[in-house]
Amino acid sequence: MSPENQIRRIAVNTGGGDAPGLNAVIRAVVLSADQRGWEVYGIEESYDGLFREGGVRRLDRAAVRGITHLGGTILGTTNRGDPLQYPVTAPDGTATKLDRGDEVIRILREREIDALIAIGGDGSLAIAAELHDRGLRVVGVPKTIDNDLAATNLTFGFLTAVETATDAIDKLHSTAAAHRRVMVVELMGRNAGWIALFAGVAGTADVILVPEIPYDIESVCAKIEHRYTSGRGFAIVVAAEGAYPKGGDASYETKGGGQVRLGGVADSVAAEIEARTGRETRTLVLGHLQRGGGPIAYDRLLALRFGAAAVKLVAEGCFGCMVALDPPVVRAVPLKDALAERKTVPLDSDIVQTARSLGVCLGD
Ligand code: F6P
Repeated sequence: MSPENQIRRIAVNTGGGDAPGLNAVIRAVVLSADQRGWEVYGIEESYDGLFREGGVRRLDRAAVRGITHLGGTILGTTNRGDPLQYPVTAPDGTATKLDRGDEVIRILREREIDALIAIGGDGSLAIAAELHDRGLRVVGVPKTIDNDLAATNLTFGFLTAVETATDAIDKLHSTAAAHRRVMVVELMGRNAGWIALFAGVAGTADVILVPEIPYDIESVCAKIEHRYTSGRGFAIVVAAEGAYPKGGDASYETKGGGQVRLGGVADSVAAEIEARTGRETRTLVLGHLQRGGGPIAYDRLLALRFGAAAVKLVAEGCFGCMVALDPPVVRAVPLKDALAERKTVPLDSDIVQTARSLGVCLGD
């Protein structure tokens, strides 16, 4: 290691929506850094903690004891605190945005932080890349339940979300059968269908709608009718939140705070099914349950591997990079490459072919 890379103190933060496994990454970062004799500081709520008294705290071995299996993040997170477009209220009361990127770097230098490990999704990693361009020594750790980051084969939290969603689909079967109903389940994933496809196939859904395949409601209804006429008497439809009809648009909702988010596809698909088939149809929006709870064992392992690998990259002076799973190894990829494209479900992928072989209707 060259002298300029000598590290004594690093910081870690978690940004964007949470994902099961964040605490496992934090623990691996702290323990691996401690083994090298470094101190670790946790920044609360993405970068927000830097801008307030007491928002940065020392993370020693005791601080990360017993957290590997816990959901959420002990540091807190936010998807509203982008330091490059920081929301502030001007003296005249109007809402405006401020670039506080240089301030972030200055505060970290004043605290004698030698490098930052930023754990986040595409938004947080884009911020990390920009801060690196401005001179901050940063290593990224990818996180999202959506599994839509191109540079890594998997992100931790994804398989936990799939587990939760599959469990929900399993449970819907008995109530759907009892009432001879159609159940439409809306799952997360933004503009990628990974969660819906994995959980839908594992949970033996009859119809799976993903953003990668715009759906034809007539095909969906034909499949449902076949379920009834062939004697099954109920049907399970899984819809990714980003799914949309051929020639139409995805559904959006405005949440509290004015944030516009994907949402509403289950209601619109259910209304169409009921109107066209006359079959009683109910909906379930699984929502943030998919992000809640502790990580399954595979996600814990992946998160621990990512945390340990990120510390190794800091030690090697490999900044402006993020850790990525390239089975069977975890390796470094440039942050910019990682952000270049979204990973959506390839139409010729094995999982799509498997669904078709099983007779699942994919809406086309
Ligand atoms: O990116 C993760 C994710 O859970 C998406 O699947 C979903 O669309 C979005 O975040 C929800 O964001 P929020 O936490 O703002 O509701």
